[in-house]
Amino acid sequence: MKKHQILVIGGGLAGLRAAIEAKERGLDVAVLSLVYPMRSHSVAAQGGINVALGNRRDVGEDNPEKHSFDTVKGSDYLADQDAVETMCQEAPTRTYELNHWGTPFSRMPDGRLDQRPFGGADFPRTCYAADRTGHALMHTLYEQSVKRGILVYNEWAALSLVMADGRCRGAVALDIATGAIEAFAADAVVLGTGGVGRIYSLSTNAHINTGYAMAMAYWAGVPIKDLEFIQFHPTALPGTGILITEGARGEGGYLLNNKNERFMRDYAPTKMELAPRDIVSRSIRTEIDLGRGFEPGVVHLDIRHLGKERIMEVLPGIREICLKFLGFDPADQPIPIVPGQHYTMGGIDTDVWGATPVPGIFAAGECACVSVHGGNRLGGNSLLDTVVFGQRSGQRAADYVLGLEAPPHGQAALQSALKQEQERVAGLLSRDRTHLPAAIREKLGQTMFDQVGIFREPKPLQGALDTIHQLQKEYPGVGVGGKSRRFNLDLLRTLELRGMLDLAEVITLGALARQESRGSHFRRDFPERNDRDWLKHTLVTYSARGPQVSYRPVVVTKWQPQERKY
Ligand code: FUM
Repeated sequence: MKKHQILVIGGGLAGLRAAIEAKERGLDVAVLSLVYPMRSHSVAAQGGINVALGNRRDVGEDNPEKHSFDTVKGSDYLADQDAVETMCQEAPTRTYELNHWGTPFSRMPDGRLDQRPFGGADFPRTCYAADRTGHALMHTLYEQSVKRGILVYNEWAALSLVMADGRCRGAVALDIATGAIEAFAADAVVLGTGGVGRIYSLSTNAHINTGYAMAMAYWAGVPIKDLEFIQFHPTALPGTGILITEGARGEGGYLLNNKNERFMRDYAPTKMELAPRDIVSRSIRTEIDLGRGFEPGVVHLDIRHLGKERIMEVLPGIREICLKFLGFDPADQPIPIVPGQHYTMGGIDTDVWGATPVPGIFAAGECACVSVHGGNRLGGNSLLDTVVFGQRSGQRAADYVLGLEAPPHGQAALQSALKQEQERVAGLLSRDRTHLPAAIREKLGQTMFDQVGIFREPKPLQGALDTIHQLQKEYPGVGVGGKSRRFNLDLLRTLELRGMLDLAEVITLGALARQESRGSHFRRDFPERNDRDWLKHTLVTYSARGPQVSYRPVVVTKWQPQERKY
């Protein structure tokens, strides 16, 4: 059996930042990652990281309080305001740390970090590395983890968290290369595994973002918070879902309908294309639904007026994506775009230290819900969330382990969980299947996109819940076609599907129950926000009787909810 004091599951920005922090505090830390860390979804983050440095003095003054207010307003007042203030106040420290560790940020002529405008922000506060910011940050943190000698179990899939006496004692995981299943004893586990995007048929997320670790926490007794709030990014490529960064609009790109109108004028006259994502996505969807889109159901993002030179300087990745996937240069032609699922505002219920209500389980980044994004995340706050709460969860997990009177062993629980997972995998590999996992997955993705998407209505939501329940009934009949144990991705996808179904149920239950519109959750039958009844977080807890829904008040410190106008 493998043993570490802290096991970090997830090799992206949140996981690596947590691991670095715990290692700095002298603990034996290992990272277990589904992919080599440099292939984690964090590398796909394009546009930048928000931080109130106030470097753009040409347009006014900025500070963490303004950043906090924009974040709270952007969240449609569902974010916990104490948590938002923590994140925004710590943003400069974490960003300068990345800068000093070598991130190649784009700079102003005088050498200070440049900052571009992003959606929902009253000030240009998004630091960036051209349009490959996540990639640059990942190189930085990966280098720092190598420097500290942090052990990484590359291409291992966590299968379950192991509990004994109400505490987490580690995890069971599958070595994808060999098919071996092993138990990992750990005094604490930190989850940093990203969102659940692949539950939706069109997503900007990598294929690894199925939310399985979130499901593991759910099954281990941690509530899942506000999962009904699913962000659709306004600008994804149709078909593939590839992200076209908000930075394209930050740099001055326009959205156009088939009448050549900048239609955002009708929806958010002040902020136009840089309104928050929930508003821009709904506006695009509305234009397309009213017949003002282009074939095949898209609108145009036009950046031609920026000129080739500027595009090559600040949006080189977008140009490359257009050349490779669309066959043209965006300096010559507008880009066809549609909204695609992008981010999971909700997730594993944590406090501002990444601690969950279950001792020994911590979480950070997109898989967690602190909550700093509430009903709608502002672009650029996701990278910030990973480094602020990655650092904090590493610190708190280390304190927790160092404070344990006698390190928990939980050998019997680990052995029993190991046996259970070995049997589960053996069963999937040996049985004759009555249902194809791929068919269930496809049905799930289309149902979620069509019925639990940008606009929601009670009948389709109830229909989606019925479909999910039917698919959950079919799941025990799935089996795996290829029987090899080595790199069996069919097996992996089939294991993940169980978690996807349970999380889809959590999303849909929350969406059906929440009879109001707030942030990304828009109910056509309740089009207004209702603070009297719904200024509260949804918590869904796993039980043998089925998911249990409860609520918790939102923390309001300085900013009383107001109507959100842009
Ligand atoms: O559009 C983007 O570059 C995405 C940024 C984000 O989700 O924060």
